[in-house]
Amino acid sequence: MVDSDGDGELEARLVEQEEFEPSREFVEQANVSDPKIYDEFEKNWPGCWEQAAALLDWDSPYDEVLDDSNPPFYEWFTGGKLNASYNCLDRHVENGDKNRVAIKWEGEHGDTRTYTYQDLSREVNEFAAALRDLGVEEDDVVTLYMPMIPELPIAMLACARIGAPHSVVFAGFSAEALATRMNSADSRFLVTCDGYYRRGDPLDHLDKANEGLDGVDHGVDAAVVVDRLGDDGFGHDLRGNQHDWDGLLDEHSGDRVDPVQRDAEDMLFLMYTSGTTGQPKGVKHTTGGYLSYAAWTSHAVLDIEKEDTYWCAADIGWITGHSYIVYGPLALGTTTVMYEGTPDYPNRSRLWELVEKYAVDIFYTAPTAIRAFMKWGTQFPERHDLSSLRLLGTVGEPINPRAWKWYYKHIGDEECPVVDTWWQTETGGMMITTLPGVGNMKPGSAGPPLPGVDAKVVDTGGEEVEAGRAGYLTVNKPWPGMLRTLYKNDERFIDEYWREYSDTDSDDPDDWVYFPEDGAKIDDDGYITILGRVDDVINVSGHRLGTMEIESAIVGVEGVAEAAVVGGKHDVKGEAVYAYVITEEGQAEDDEMRDRIVQGVEDAIGPIARPEQVLFTPELPKTRSGKIMRRLLEEIANGEELGDTTTLRNPEIVEEIQRKADAR
Ligand code: PRX
Repeated sequence: MVDSDGDGELEARLVEQEEFEPSREFVEQANVSDPKIYDEFEKNWPGCWEQAAALLDWDSPYDEVLDDSNPPFYEWFTGGKLNASYNCLDRHVENGDKNRVAIKWEGEHGDTRTYTYQDLSREVNEFAAALRDLGVEEDDVVTLYMPMIPELPIAMLACARIGAPHSVVFAGFSAEALATRMNSADSRFLVTCDGYYRRGDPLDHLDKANEGLDGVDHGVDAAVVVDRLGDDGFGHDLRGNQHDWDGLLDEHSGDRVDPVQRDAEDMLFLMYTSGTTGQPKGVKHTTGGYLSYAAWTSHAVLDIEKEDTYWCAADIGWITGHSYIVYGPLALGTTTVMYEGTPDYPNRSRLWELVEKYAVDIFYTAPTAIRAFMKWGTQFPERHDLSSLRLLGTVGEPINPRAWKWYYKHIGDEECPVVDTWWQTETGGMMITTLPGVGNMKPGSAGPPLPGVDAKVVDTGGEEVEAGRAGYLTVNKPWPGMLRTLYKNDERFIDEYWREYSDTDSDDPDDWVYFPEDGAKIDDDGYITILGRVDDVINVSGHRLGTMEIESAIVGVEGVAEAAVVGGKHDVKGEAVYAYVITEEGQAEDDEMRDRIVQGVEDAIGPIARPEQVLFTPELPKTRSGKIMRRLLEEIANGEELGDTTTLRNPEIVEEIQRKADAR
């Protein structure tokens, strides 16, 4: 095999899937380095999870680690009381770490802000007081529609302090997506900002937020607006119930708010994610289980020490940012880096410049970013001193061995273990990955389930498949970070995650099996390789998009009769959106129509869901029972040989679509 990097030895190890051992130096300092941990957790399950809970300070101790009397509504650390903001702030301030840096923030222009634990605690208290003053009460859902500015984690922790669950909506989502989420969560409060910077230009965010607010179908009591752009702003006047962030902090300067004692099972936040139907799912995470799990995995997998400078280059608008920019690292009292901009602005060295500048110890990102770095070339990381790095991680999508190797070699200098972490919005934290101080790495394979996590690969009947064969991933025991339900929709919770392999009449927890909707293969050594989603969800750049959501946006465009959307392979993004559209009689099938379709998707969801290609077709391939055969559309998108078409009602259409695809 030709090796473009001229490192034949490394390539050969990959081809054979030889394992990579963590260096002795890493293992010697690792938070977890004893392989016995797997056995210990298994023997002492669920008591083993006390180790996770022990990373937190509890106001009152819990009575029981796990209450599994009403599966799948599991409860963790029942009877325990705690506050997440206390655990992320006050205890570090009290324990002599008040001057340690909590957040190192870097703006796109190179403007910086540094918050010590003391600073962060002060602002969180002031904003918590402001929220109370605006009428926010315990259990009110506060929506945070904000980009990567420090006010976002401050607002999250302020909500946690007063026991008001937050629901963060990714800033790149559209006005409509914001309204849908506020409506679904009955949220009467919003925190947002005037705008932010993208590739050098100020971007109007308040305009979008206001449009979203206009689409909220219940009263909105108050909105808070951060002034991020200053003189670059768009001159918006605040509405009657809108308040300026700085004004509120001035008003509440020096105020302190006692952290509210929350029950372990009380909701910490909601996070909306895409599913098979058009309606996003409001995933509910709790205070005790989620926070313990985020802290534990940050400790055991990311190997975070409080002395570290740790950087997760995700966006807080997604679960990765919640667990591994905010809650996990701050619970452990470390320094977490936040960066406002994109990796290629003002140049392609930007991230490496920051790793060098802040002497980052641990770096966690998505395979999409790694594939982009690879494409740009090694000259960018080579310009910088990356020797501070000790551990690398990836999340969000499968990483191909070639990208893994590039990351290991060119970023980690073959010294840093790479943890490929499989998990989901619903799992709250990492589930399948190597423990970097214990196990060897196999590029392309996430690794074994974490200690205490019981994952299997099964066939359609629920029987375990042989080693090396593809099947469906299942999780057979509950874990503390798991979602508790979908907001106000227990029935959908059961349908979406448990119906497939569980006996839903049973009250024996062993009869309940969680189904993450991922395909996987398991090797003899128990290492699991994730093969991707098995439902109608597309993973674009590590972001989860429901095909139904995109299809309903397209069908909402004037002149469209029907649409089918699939994920096609993409070099950098992993998957891209391919849309097949049937227009109404008399509608021109031209670029103008294509543009309107793309715009329709951006308006309904946001630019991340933008179709890569829109193909017009007179019909969609359907089975005799009328189901769209997406597999064929995927094959066409990928330029692959077509599989069996004999079960189609209209097999002739497939060739026609393929001809059109080839012509483009
Ligand atoms: O398909 C899996 C993929 O991302 C899905 C979860 O998406 P989301 O809830 O948005 O959370 C992403 C960040 C945790 C999974 O069902 N996925 C996540 N991590 C990996 C992965 N696929 C392969 N390897 C991974 N390491």
